[in-house]
Amino acid sequence: MDFRHQIAAPSGLADIEVDALVLVVGDKTNPALAPSLGTLIAGAVGAGDLVLKKGKLLYLYQPPGVAAKRVAIVVAGDESAKSFKAAVALGLGTLKSSGAKTVGIAHAGGRGLAEVHAEAAVTAAADACYLYTHTKPSAPEPWAPKSVTIYCARADEKAVQRGVRRGAAIAAGVTMAREFGNRPGNVCTPTWLGQQAKKLGKQFDLSVEVLDKKDVEKLGMGAFLAVAQGSDEPLRFIVARYDGAAKSQAPVVLVGKGITFDTGGISLKPGADMDEMKFDMCGAASVLGTLATVASLKARLNLVCIVPSCDNMPSGKAVKPGDVVTSMSGQTIEILNTDAEGRLILCDALTYAERFKPAVVVDVATLTGACVIALGHHHSGLFTPDDKVAAQMLAASRDALDTCWRMPLDDEYDEALKSNFADMGNVGGRPGGAITAAMFLRRYTAKYPWAHLDIAGTAWKSGAHKGATGRPVGLLTHFVLGYAK
Ligand code: BES
Ligand code: MN
Ligand code: ZN
Repeated sequence: MDFRHQIAAPSGLADIEVDALVLVVGDKTNPALAPSLGTLIAGAVGAGDLVLKKGKLLYLYQPPGVAAKRVAIVVAGDESAKSFKAAVALGLGTLKSSGAKTVGIAHAGGRGLAEVHAEAAVTAAADACYLYTHTKPSAPEPWAPKSVTIYCARADEKAVQRGVRRGAAIAAGVTMAREFGNRPGNVCTPTWLGQQAKKLGKQFDLSVEVLDKKDVEKLGMGAFLAVAQGSDEPLRFIVARYDGAAKSQAPVVLVGKGITFDTGGISLKPGADMDEMKFDMCGAASVLGTLATVASLKARLNLVCIVPSCDNMPSGKAVKPGDVVTSMSGQTIEILNTDAEGRLILCDALTYAERFKPAVVVDVATLTGACVIALGHHHSGLFTPDDKVAAQMLAASRDALDTCWRMPLDDEYDEALKSNFADMGNVGGRPGGAITAAMFLRRYTAKYPWAHLDIAGTAWKSGAHKGATGRPVGLLTHFVLGYAK
């Protein structure tokens, strides 16, 4: 799919020659609108066919005096990028069945389009076209327009151009993350993830190392090894780096949880919905997706992605509740619940991250069911003791329309991790479960500024639309780009 922009004045909107046009209107009819469209909209509003309220839509087939074959007029309700994105998504959802080859997206008046609007329109278009088919031969052909053009006023051109470029790069990263996440556990294994990282390396000229069990043993990653030991599927530890700036510039390090299937281990999960634990590598998928996005934008910064990857399985070799292991940091852990495995693989990756002398480290993980209870499926959980990093992350999440919400990390929560048999236990009970998980990770991050994103509620959808969302590639991309020189 080719995303582009083009200049079109409001009076020229009727001349846009595309198979399908999404025309987003604010909350009133725009006097500057092309006469044919203005008359159409005013007529529909007068007749009650179109209500000027957020989320309302009027579909027109071959409207007279309009070059586009099909037009979806969608009411955004306000001028925000968020509403614009929702309107574009709604319009494209209606136009999709036409299989249009050329698509236009235009804004009828208002304050015009900013960079975030253009980016939002492009990512909405990519979302509208995404369909998982890899293991489903009976799936219909996905909608694949040749071109998607964002129409804008001359004054907005530069901003829209930037937004389209960034949106297209993010869309590719999001799509990649969705594809990785949606692959079943018997396809997306640690080995497969390692191969994909290598491929990415070739594509974007990155340096990619894939470590195996022997390497990880040498590094002393006792916590990661304990999780992996129950599975016949070999572990992988992926380190991929993009060097877009001088060596002297401290890198951003992203760490992604790569549990390719989480049964819970000996602390076995209940059967219902356990299939969704194939999504337990969505943190890994999102950091690799972000890496691809940032590399394709040729951003002037250094980025390292670290992915510890294995399955969490019960077996005669599996780690047991009460077992004590020594992490790479030297701190010992009493594994009280083998289902709290994410923090065990992440803590060793966070210690490994120290060698890069990072500007900042962000780990991304489908870490706790408790985070879903706390925040639902809208915000990812943001945990960081660093107010500056928190501000950067929250701003990035607003710009990307990929939101997160800051959660507390007070020392009092650390009490819950006390153990009589090791430096810490790996669980802190049900109350504040997302917070105690973050407190556990915090014990491994003293050497650099750090943030943790719990994406358990946002990385995938359940139910009829079950599937990976590709979040938080947008958020991470905006955050990482903030470190460009
Ligand atoms: N991968 C799960 C977290 C999860 C559960 C995400 C449900 C999305 C939906 C994680 O490894 C896990 O099992 N966490 C436990 C922690 C508990 C044992 C302290 C949980 O949330 O139940
Ligand atoms: Mn688990
Ligand atoms: Zn898990």
